[in-house]
Amino acid sequence: TTAPEQTGTQDRKVGVSKAQDSKGALIETQPVRGTRDFAPDDYRLRQWLFGEFEAVSRLFGFEQFETPVLESEELFVRKAGEEITQQLYNFEDKGGRRVALRPELTPSLARLILAQGAGLPLPAKWFSIGQCWRYERTTRGRRREHFQWNMDIVGVPGVAAEAELLAAIALFLERLGMSAQDIVIKVSSRKVLQAILERFGVPEDAVGPVSVIVDKMEKIPLEKVEEELTELGLSKEAMDGIVAATRIGTLEELQQLLGEGNEASQELQELFSIAEGYGIAEYLQLDTSCVRGLAYYTGVVFEGRDRAGQLRAIFGGGRYDRLLSTFGGQAQPCAGFGFGDCVILELLQDKGLVPELPHKVEDLVMVLDEQLRSKAAQIAQRLRKAGRRVDLVLESKKMKWVFKQAERCGAERLIIVAPDEWERGMVRVKDLAAREEQDVAVDALLEAQ
Ligand code: HAM
Repeated sequence: TTAPEQTGTQDRKVGVSKAQDSKGALIETQPVRGTRDFAPDDYRLRQWLFGEFEAVSRLFGFEQFETPVLESEELFVRKAGEEITQQLYNFEDKGGRRVALRPELTPSLARLILAQGAGLPLPAKWFSIGQCWRYERTTRGRRREHFQWNMDIVGVPGVAAEAELLAAIALFLERLGMSAQDIVIKVSSRKVLQAILERFGVPEDAVGPVSVIVDKMEKIPLEKVEEELTELGLSKEAMDGIVAATRIGTLEELQQLLGEGNEASQELQELFSIAEGYGIAEYLQLDTSCVRGLAYYTGVVFEGRDRAGQLRAIFGGGRYDRLLSTFGGQAQPCAGFGFGDCVILELLQDKGLVPELPHKVEDLVMVLDEQLRSKAAQIAQRLRKAGRRVDLVLESKKMKWVFKQAERCGAERLIIVAPDEWERGMVRVKDLAAREEQDVAVDALLEAQ
C-alpha cells in the first residue's frame, strides 16, 4: 500500500489507501494527487463555508450564476506567460475539440456576460462558487482542484466597485470570527506600473506581461526578474524605475513618485477614503509590490494574506476593464475577486475557528418486533412529512446499538414501536437529553408536529 496523501482538512484520516476489488486486484482508494474527497464530515464543513459565501453575496445584492467546469481551451489561452496558462488541464475530447478544465471563473464570466448581449441591465453584480483546476505543485493551501467564491461587478468604472467588493470580503471574514488583526489586504493599482512604463516610453500593452514578471519577485531572484524584463525589451532605467515603484508603502510617497494628479494615486486615495466609510480601512495596506500574476488586470489590484505571513494568498482580485474587448466584445468596466476554499480553512483551523458541525437528525425510530415494521415506516414517514429529520433503524438491532446510533446521529428523541404499546395505540418516546421516557398516543405524537 502507499501512504495516504496529505489532504488538508482530511489529514486526520488515516485509512486504507488500497482496497481489494472483487477480482482480488488492489484499487487505489486515495483520490488523484492534489484532489480531495469530501466524506460527510468534510462535506458539512464545505457546505457551511459555501453557505457563508452565498449569504454574504446575497447581503450585498449579488445574483448567483454557474458555468461549466469544462470550457473551450481558447478561453484560457493568453500569451503573457502567466503561470495559470501553463498549469492548464487541457485535452482533446472525442469530437476533436480542444477543451480545458477551467483554472478560474473570470473568463467564463466574461463569456457569459458577452452571451447576454446588450440587453443585460448594468451594473451586473454576480457571484459564483465553482471548482477550478490547476496543475500546481501541491503545498499547504495549494491543490490541483479548489473551489473559488467569486464576486464580480460589471459596468461600474469607479473604485466604488472595488470598495464594495472589499467590504463584502471583510464582512465575510468577520462572520467567521476574524478581523483586521488576522488578515491584511494588500492593495495597489496596475496604473502605478503603467505610469512608470509610460515615463520610459514603454507601450501600455506591456503592463500586463510586465506585471506577470514583477509578480514573481517574491519567488525568484531579482536578477532572473530583470532578465525576463530585458527579454520584453525594457531598458535598465525602466527596470530600476519599476523596482523603485514596487517599494512604495504610503500614498504620500506614491504621489511624490507619480506626481500631482496621477490617476493611480487619486484612485487609491479615493478607495482608502470610501473604505473608511465601510469601517474596513484597518484591513487595507498600500503595497505596490502587489501586482498580481494575471495579465488582464488594468486598475486596482488586491490580495488577502494572513498577518502572520505563513500561508499563501487567501483571496485576490482587481479591476479588468479590457477582458471583454479582448474576447471581441463590447468593452465593459469590470472588477471582482476570487476567494479559495483551501487557505481559509487552514487559517480557521490554526485559529481554532472551525465550527462544530455534527451530523444531526431529530428523531430515531425503531421497532422492537419486525411484525411492526410497516407501522414504524408509517410513523417515520409522517414525521418527515411534517418536516422532522428522522433516521429509521432498518434492521433488528440490540438496544445498545440503537443508543449508540442515537448518539451518532444526534437524535433528540428515540421513538420505539413496541407490540404492547402499539396494541394501545401508543409508542414509547425517549427524550434523550432529559433521559425521560413516556408512552405517547400515536395521534398525539403526529399532531404535535
Ligand atoms: P487567483 O489569485 O489566481 O485569481 O486565485 C484567487 C484565489 O483562488 C487565490 O487567492 C486562492 O485563494 C485560490 N486559489 C488559486 N489557486 C489555488 C490552488 N491551486 N489551490 C487552492 N486555492 C487556490 C483568480 O483566479 C481571479 N480569476 C480572481 C478574480 C475574479 N479576479 C477578478 N475576478
